[in-house]
Amino acid sequence: MPSVASSGTHRRSLRDLAAGDLAGRRALVRVDFNVPLGGDPPQVRDPARIRAALPTIEHLRAAGARVVLMSHLGRPKGRPDPALSLRPVGRELEALIGADVGFVDDPLAAAAVDEVARLQPGGILLLENLRFWPGETDADPAFAAALARLGDLFVQDAFGTLHRAHASTSAVPAVLRPAVAGLLLAAEFEAFARLREEPARPYVAILGGAKISGKLETLRAILEHADRVLVGGGMASTFYLARGWEVGGSLVEHELVQVAAELLDAHGAERLEIAMDAVVAHDVRHPASPRVVAAAAMAPDTSVGDIGPRSRAAFARRIDEAATVFWNGPMGIFESPAFAEGTLAVARAVARATERGAYTVVGGGDSVAALAQMGLQGSVSHVSTGGGAGLELLAGRVLPGLAALESA
Ligand code: 3PG
Repeated sequence: MPSVASSGTHRRSLRDLAAGDLAGRRALVRVDFNVPLGGDPPQVRDPARIRAALPTIEHLRAAGARVVLMSHLGRPKGRPDPALSLRPVGRELEALIGADVGFVDDPLAAAAVDEVARLQPGGILLLENLRFWPGETDADPAFAAALARLGDLFVQDAFGTLHRAHASTSAVPAVLRPAVAGLLLAAEFEAFARLREEPARPYVAILGGAKISGKLETLRAILEHADRVLVGGGMASTFYLARGWEVGGSLVEHELVQVAAELLDAHGAERLEIAMDAVVAHDVRHPASPRVVAAAAMAPDTSVGDIGPRSRAAFARRIDEAATVFWNGPMGIFESPAFAEGTLAVARAVARATERGAYTVVGGGDSVAALAQMGLQGSVSHVSTGGGAGLELLAGRVLPGLAALESA
């Protein structure tokens, strides 16, 4: 299994390029501007991912590079969708950076090359949502070549998208060199390397979210590295079923019950601690009267919406004792106030641990949203811009967008 260091920090980075390599050159930068939009006209609801890209953009501008930014937004399935245009994101970037950001509607058109050619040193252009073209998710070499003609060098700064083998993540760097990691990637690799390589102990990981399936390899890898893994959210129900308990209408992955049973047997409740009680309701989408029950005593006509108060207290105690904490995934149906308390309790505990001196990393949209809801984003050591990408990195996978970059 490759280490994070060999798959991350040993890549050539933007800092390895001299100012002379950048001045006047066209830097084609893959960023992850997949941010929530809302309102009419659409506006950026949470600019965290845009802010996270600013150090790389500023570094390039200061060196006199001409900056061409590209990203995806949502999953428009290879067709233009006005609701998923990156234009509002370009306006938000303008406001954040205090400079004009040009916009290219069609990066495949001949005019796109001219627009890039007209950019002044330090100038910025943003290309339209790459997933408006099927070539992006198909990793089509022709689409990648069309993008590559807009740059003299490639900078990868889209941490959240590194686990995708798409044109802009793995095919462009294959044909456009230098191909280097940006400054956000460097910060993310450092955080995940700290989790994988000699974390300060005790190391406590909290995993939640709907499913085990996307997290199975990570769960196995974390169980090797962490002293204790706390499990809440929808994924806990598969473990309940593995114990032979009633789960009512809760979401369960039947094909993983056996795996869950093996993990419980192999690691025991000391290392793999599943939420011991739950907030349940007859219909979690319309919770009229949510109730607290022991996880082993659920009625068949109910479903789990959140972890219960005993689990909240137990998880908070474990987090309070930790020197390193990783958290990904909500403890329940966090969007519903009836089921938000478990996730908020974990957010509070992680912030408290940080204040006490623990090293804490939080990833995944809902966990980060829970921090933001409580104004605690600045109260943890590292807020990752990646959910799935971070989990895959922790699982020891070589991420396609990372493998495509030049070695240091
Ligand atoms: C994310 O938000 O997780 C990344 O931007 C990747 O998006 P995707 O899951 O649609 O590829």
